[in-house]
Amino acid sequence: MKIVETIKEVREQVKEWKKQGLSVGLVPTMGYLHEGHKSLIDRAVAENDKVVVSVFVNPMQFGPTEDLESYPRDMERDAALCENAGAALVFHPEPSEMYEDDFSSFVDMNTLTGGLCGKTRPIHFRGVCTVVAKLFNIVTPDRAYFGQKDAQQLAVIRHMVSDLSFGIEIVGCPIIREKDGLAKSSRNTYLSAEERNAALILSQSLKEGKALVEAGEKDAAKIKKVITDKINTEPLAKIDYVEVVDWKTLEPVSTIDAPILTAIAVYIGKTRLIDNFII
Ligand code: PAF
Repeated sequence: MKIVETIKEVREQVKEWKKQGLSVGLVPTMGYLHEGHKSLIDRAVAENDKVVVSVFVNPMQFGPTEDLESYPRDMERDAALCENAGAALVFHPEPSEMYEDDFSSFVDMNTLTGGLCGKTRPIHFRGVCTVVAKLFNIVTPDRAYFGQKDAQQLAVIRHMVSDLSFGIEIVGCPIIREKDGLAKSSRNTYLSAEERNAALILSQSLKEGKALVEAGEKDAAKIKKVITDKINTEPLAKIDYVEVVDWKTLEPVSTIDAPILTAIAVYIGKTRLIDNFII
């Protein structure tokens, strides 16, 4: 497995593969890889001849008061995980390689990005779309893999790919959880032992909400209330949002009669965690 830092090196390698008629899968990440990322790489390795993993903590998707500086990084461990999982190339650029001083073109979206995480992270999806569009242009993959844990991101990227005719298949992969239900996230590392325990309230509350939908409840307000009440039983938890939205438009629904995304963002201490179910 090769690790490269420049766009030129990625392009040369991918050009070589394409000359040989090989298919290419891309797994975009911000590093500090865990089982969730590994599941994306495993799937990409199973479905493509060559897999590129990008490891880039993208400054453009962090707000001024967010955790860009403290975001966990461990390139050595990430490289080992990628190699063991069968990736062929890791692209690990410096910010200056991705964004030159006079960088001034962005990919923005008028729909899907205003609600859910977009409400409290107003510049986030512009940063995500811009970096993912750049990665697509650099790697030119046949398929790209994203986790359902960031469900809004998955919907936004699918929409961007369709709008801008990227001709890349976007593969959404299931949420990977710890044994006790906590969704895997690089940000779980911020949690103290007490907070780690409190964080279980996310998956537990969603489990109750999901059971209600499965039992035939159609009233979104009731589902939101069950989830909200459960989260509020945990003193360390502070709700950012609990939403039931249409899985296609991401607009809030009052009655459930089409596929829905039930998504939550909750602060456990200072750490903001997200989780969801789609049904
Ligand atoms: O999901 C992430 O880790 C990031 O948002 C992504 C897609 C790698 C873009 O920086």
